[in-house]
Amino acid sequence: MSSHLHHFRVWRGDDTKGELVDYPVEVNEGEVVLDVIHRLQATEAGDLAVRWNCKAGKCGSCSAEINGRPRLMCMTRMNTFDDAEVVTVTPLRSFPVIRDLVTDVSFNYTKAREIPSFTPPEGVAPGEYRMAQVDVERSQEFRKCIECYLCQNTCHVVRDHEENKEAFAGPRYLMRMAELDMHPLDAHGNRAVEAQEEHGLGFCNITKCCTEVCPEHIKITDNALIPLKERAVDRKYDPLVWLGDKIFRR
Ligand code: SF4
Ligand code: F3S
Ligand code: FES
Repeated sequence: MSSHLHHFRVWRGDDTKGELVDYPVEVNEGEVVLDVIHRLQATEAGDLAVRWNCKAGKCGSCSAEINGRPRLMCMTRMNTFDDAEVVTVTPLRSFPVIRDLVTDVSFNYTKAREIPSFTPPEGVAPGEYRMAQVDVERSQEFRKCIECYLCQNTCHVVRDHEENKEAFAGPRYLMRMAELDMHPLDAHGNRAVEAQEEHGLGFCNITKCCTEVCPEHIKITDNALIPLKERAVDRKYDPLVWLGDKIFRR
């Protein structure tokens, strides 16, 4: 098994100050960035803070920025870098740092709580819900989300504008609203217009950066955000749909 010393540069600090620290660290064949971060913890930087859980790309905990690109550390293979290339690991930029590579992602929990949950139709008891397979499949893709928040961290609406956080739910939660809007049994009301008026759908100018970084390869923009925008416009400005919504409120 081949191994070499690799030049790592890791952000160390807390919510008051921090800096990039250089470490030469052993890398073995087949390893991922998270393996190397763990070796750093075991050797030169015993107090390095890092959040992780599954090491299989499924818990969404090990999100960080690697050479400036938001990624899962456990799914970033070391053989994708040249042996001489410095690997720089920094915490997610859009969320406050707690320590080292660990950020406070509670913004996302707040946004999740702001979305009214699935509302079943009146008179249908649990166990009596029936859906066509085509409706199940339409939103299946969105349920692959592992809540890594890479999309939330990447979207320029909040990445460059802290002041937008209050009004913008972010791609992950606009996608959740799209999923509920597509649900044939959801009786909550007009989710698309609500997304537009109360959760900042209008901030999204479909740059697709969220889709590019999603480790589950969910087509967030094409399959959730654009259809949600189209339905918001249809429902808001089509007089027949508007009248229908008033009379047969879903
Ligand atoms: Fe992560 Fe993709 Fe879910 Fe966004 S949609 S939180 S990038 S898995
Ligand atoms: Fe942001 Fe994705 Fe829209 S990156 S602007 S939510 S397409
Ligand atoms: Fe679970 Fe990386 S440790 S996704």
